[in-house]
Amino acid sequence: MFNYRSKIIIAALLAAISLPSPAQHASRVSFNDGWTFSKDGVTKQVDLPHDWGVDGPFNIQYPGETGKLEWWGKAEYTKTLTVPATTDPSSPAAIGDLYLLDIDGAMSWAKVFCNGNLVTEWPYGYASFRADLTPYIKEGENEIKITLDNPEESSRWYPGGGIYRNVWLTVAPSVGVAHWGTYMTTKGDKATLAISLRNSGPSTSSGAGIAGTVRTEIFEYNGNTVIASAETAVESITDSTVISQEFDLSGAARWSPDHPNLYRAVTTVIPMEAGAAAGHRPYSAAAKRGWTRTSPDSRPADDAYITVFGLRDIEYKEDGIFIDGVKTFLKGVCLHHDAGALGAVWNTTAWERRLKMLKEMGCNAIRTSHNPPAPELLDLCDRMGFLVMDELTDTWTVPKKPNGYALLFDKWAEKDLKALIHRDRNHPSVILWSIGNETGEQGYPNLYHIPARLTEICHQEDPTRLTTFGSDNPWASEQEFRNTMDIYGFNYKPHLYAKFHAANPGKLYLGSETASTISTRGVYFFPIEEDPRGKEFCEKDFQVSSYDLHTVPWGQTPEQEWKDEDDNPSCLGEFVWTGYDYLGEPTPYNKDITILTNFHDPEAKARAEKEIAEKGAVSTPSRSSYFGIIDLAGFPKDRYWLYQARWSEKTVLHVLPHWNWPGREGEVTPVHVYTNCDKVELFVNGVSQGIRERADKQYRLRWDNVVYSPGKVKAVGWKDGSKVIVQTVKTAGETRKIKLEQEKGFGEGDLYYIDAVLIDKKGVFAPTACDELKFSIKGPGEILAVDAGDPTCLTPFHSDSIKAFNGLASVIIKVKPGARGKIVVTCTSDGLKKGKTKLNINK
Ligand code: GAL
Repeated sequence: MFNYRSKIIIAALLAAISLPSPAQHASRVSFNDGWTFSKDGVTKQVDLPHDWGVDGPFNIQYPGETGKLEWWGKAEYTKTLTVPATTDPSSPAAIGDLYLLDIDGAMSWAKVFCNGNLVTEWPYGYASFRADLTPYIKEGENEIKITLDNPEESSRWYPGGGIYRNVWLTVAPSVGVAHWGTYMTTKGDKATLAISLRNSGPSTSSGAGIAGTVRTEIFEYNGNTVIASAETAVESITDSTVISQEFDLSGAARWSPDHPNLYRAVTTVIPMEAGAAAGHRPYSAAAKRGWTRTSPDSRPADDAYITVFGLRDIEYKEDGIFIDGVKTFLKGVCLHHDAGALGAVWNTTAWERRLKMLKEMGCNAIRTSHNPPAPELLDLCDRMGFLVMDELTDTWTVPKKPNGYALLFDKWAEKDLKALIHRDRNHPSVILWSIGNETGEQGYPNLYHIPARLTEICHQEDPTRLTTFGSDNPWASEQEFRNTMDIYGFNYKPHLYAKFHAANPGKLYLGSETASTISTRGVYFFPIEEDPRGKEFCEKDFQVSSYDLHTVPWGQTPEQEWKDEDDNPSCLGEFVWTGYDYLGEPTPYNKDITILTNFHDPEAKARAEKEIAEKGAVSTPSRSSYFGIIDLAGFPKDRYWLYQARWSEKTVLHVLPHWNWPGREGEVTPVHVYTNCDKVELFVNGVSQGIRERADKQYRLRWDNVVYSPGKVKAVGWKDGSKVIVQTVKTAGETRKIKLEQEKGFGEGDLYYIDAVLIDKKGVFAPTACDELKFSIKGPGEILAVDAGDPTCLTPFHSDSIKAFNGLASVIIKVKPGARGKIVVTCTSDGLKKGKTKLNINK
């Protein structure tokens, strides 16, 4: 039976991993549930993370860059925090000294209020920040309010709107580890932990702070055995105390993309002030307020602070990035922050699924274009073995959008950059700080103090990593601009690698953005176009042909980029634009059309002509990008296997196009094979079309003169003289059935992804079927979203029906928290045999 994903999903399930917390207070609890959300006069209950834009409806009239979803506007979230009069150890809000709210991301211009008092504000929607509620907290009910004001015209892609990442509450003693207060650096087996301490209680009578002990124990990531520890007596803990502890970790496992071993450092601060009996410290803010505790032991736990880290030595050299001496070429992709049908909402299962597919492709690096990611993305990269280029922004002072980051830069860039570095500098996955992307300051030497200052901040806050930038201005690479960063990042300029290297020996460089090849999954147009920029044959019906020979005018095909990488071994790596399709920026269909592009369907063409005549333009339906190697719903496009053939060790053989071309009988229908085999023989209905030998560094073999007749295309791959792999593509008959396939191999059990696959009566995949599908569910779960990866589909994600796109659709099931038992998912469509699958929920 056909299994669409069998080629990419490894059978073994990852053992369910319970996640130790990343750098944070052990006592923090989720503050996500039960918020009241108000926007445009409508009030409802929501749980965070929440993106008010993603449920739609899509509005075809909105510009393409918006994703055609309404993510802008003003809104307010409120929630009650009840502080009991006495400590109830089971309550997250038990009386403590400090009440700290950590907001991982709120889009945008957030203001946090406690009981009507403004606590803090943070405008950049991608930044994580802390609101210290302590001065405004009272016994009993406290109103926590977060207001947002997300301006239109502020983003080149879909940013989402709302508190779209996690919010945490930490109730902590006055003395402890400061916010993002640990900085772990390692060299060989030696680890050094710099710890910034906090003392927000009153100091001693001399004003000198209080004495205490700082103890750190190091554990394996999932283990409970202490493998190293250190204890430091501190005479005077104040708000500016920084101490350092050293650890010998000889024999500990190393971190690398292939072996992402992690450790946990747990730091506890124990104040030793005379008279500071457990739970009743004289300087306690709680005590000062006259709050009592039920017993001395029921105080909030001492402020154990967890730092997850890995051991790796990294060298950035002219001939490559070396991790523990192993040269590691960056086989990277750029990713925007939306997760398709979930919008901007952070969900760890969704992102583990996304990263897992990239890992299977051989990808080892992620660029968080063009903003700070959710902190959990970096936790996943640490655990799964990705190298990360962690990016600040798309804009400095020269605006790209009227309400974008340029409005913030002068006042906030330094704070945003420091917040990013302090939050992220313990992650072994993070290897580069990106100070920006394609900013308008390039080419203006009088403005080069801006990047120079950003690099300086990075070096000050983290001397262990280098900086980079995505540059698209060829002149900038010849100017001093190149020296304002450690590694020069070229966006789409592989032809300059050689020249740059010759002119700047010793200066490091990489492809910060490459390719921008565009395609739609399962769509092929004929004749195939040799000129990668030729629009005429590749762009029709608001779709783009998937032979992967077509790019945006400034882009390259994967192969054009690879040629220059291979000719320039000093290139450190590449980040393909993009790993996944994303919401917004549907180039080449960004704008309504006023002159006719090609339409296949005569009726569609006539409709378009009429619209142009009547209204002057045809509304473009495209809501999401065409750049992805994987589509918005998570289905790989053809070039997934092209990258896999080059990047992975797997034996790869992938045939395109599909073989359902009624009406093309007798016409030339080129067949291409993506492979890393030595040679491939192609057969059409049993007749050999010849053998193609693969040249070194060639991953596409072409049979451009194949004449279509329905039946079977078979490719046989050979390596070292033996047949090693066969792929067959068959012409499907009439679509008869829906098969539901559960995607496996990732997940913490809160979300399940199920693929609906349309097949004929013999089980052959129906590659052009676009039937309307309806999903239903029984059991403790709900249908969270549907998508089929069609960039022009305007069905709301939050729906239980959708048109399949080229044989496939995806439904995301959300399991009720704490549920056990079975969920049965059914998919029906008029005239098709229904599909059914059971999920066993074991929590
Ligand atoms: C780049 C830009 C990206 C994206 C891409 C599309 O110039 O940095 O954000 O717009 O083009 O090709």
